[in-house]
Amino acid sequence: MQFRSTLHQFIPVLIGFICLSLLACSTSGESINRNPVVLKDTFQEKFVMGTALNAWQITGRDTSSIQIAKEHFSGIVAENIMKSGRIQPREGEFNFDLADQFVEFGEENNMQIHGHTLIWHSQAPRWFFTDEEGNEVSPELLTERMRKHIYTVVGRYKGRVHSWDVVNEAILDDGSYRKSKFHQILGKDFIKLAFQFAHEADPDAELYYNDFSMSQAGKREGVVKMVKELQEEGIRIDGIGMQGHISLEHPEIEAFEKSMLAFSDLGVQVMVTELDLSVLPSPWRNREAGANISDNADYEDRMNPYKDGLPDSVSQAFDKRYLEFFELFLKHQDKVSRVTLWGVNDSNSWKNNWPVRGRKDYPLLFDRENKAKPIVEKLINLAKQ
Ligand code: G3I
Repeated sequence: MQFRSTLHQFIPVLIGFICLSLLACSTSGESINRNPVVLKDTFQEKFVMGTALNAWQITGRDTSSIQIAKEHFSGIVAENIMKSGRIQPREGEFNFDLADQFVEFGEENNMQIHGHTLIWHSQAPRWFFTDEEGNEVSPELLTERMRKHIYTVVGRYKGRVHSWDVVNEAILDDGSYRKSKFHQILGKDFIKLAFQFAHEADPDAELYYNDFSMSQAGKREGVVKMVKELQEEGIRIDGIGMQGHISLEHPEIEAFEKSMLAFSDLGVQVMVTELDLSVLPSPWRNREAGANISDNADYEDRMNPYKDGLPDSVSQAFDKRYLEFFELFLKHQDKVSRVTLWGVNDSNSWKNNWPVRGRKDYPLLFDRENKAKPIVEKLINLAKQ
């Protein structure tokens, strides 16, 4: 009898407790709807999960994407604002406003901060290669300008930026050197100089070479040869970034793996630096699209088939392909130090405008409303296995 009456007294308390718990869950916002497990925690022991931030995110105007970045990613890179044309638009005129905010954001959120990029033929301002009379600069002047740019940028963030893409996209798919202005004026030595200056500016920063289409046999061999030469000359290079601008068809996963292993055999870290997966038709069916922004094709309606959303069959192919790549990254987690998505959500992605302007692509892990796609949970489950 006494037990029954105690139970009667206890029931309202229990009901109250359940109600309060439910209320707490619903007022704590999205946590009840979202997957409670986040990417960065699940992958913590494997590799850094990174994302690229644009200016709207860095300045905090895109609050919803910033929330996703904080919740799911442990590393950040600036998609554009640290490129030489942005950071030193005119000689000696450095603009660090956004870069400072980017670095502060990473520090406040305890993220690994990666700098992109010091020496890249694309987006390099014209003044870099032209003297006061409008003539092409001498090798000495270009070397001096590279030194000043790298010293100023790397020096400003000494001890705060973990690593830099020192040289970006200097090798072509056939393994030869890209005939960029840097190469025309200085020959291949511009690569060595860039690494040397970056090391002098911050001896503790990790220094990487970064390129796209890295699964191409020619490029693989060219990059291996170039890195070996740097190493033989005693130049510090800590890692090779494999940009992952992949599609449903290209590249072959085995070729990507082959390059990962070839790079790792050089004794450097490998990172997947610019991962996104395009589901749209490519103007170049039989080859990897790469990421050369000067290659592009005119808009045609048939090239933009998913304006109203993805059919199930394509979503399934998308999930399958992401899973295959992450299986590979996890298989080689002892070699892969970071995997960085090239953007937070589909609406931010450069793929909506390249290689054809004005299309609707779906390359990232979060949709246009910043909702986690089903692939997020699948990746988390994969990593837990
Ligand atoms: O911010 C201006 C805006 O003010 C202007 O109105 C508008 C007009 O076109 O342009 C805006 O700048 C664009 C910028 O992205 C920001 O959206 C540039 O035109 C456009 O060229 C630039 O494209 C970037 C591209 O690199 C060139 O820098 C992409 O966002 C960025 O995703 C892409 O990233 C590169 C990596 O750095 C290196 N690897 C390949 C990868 C893809 O090309």
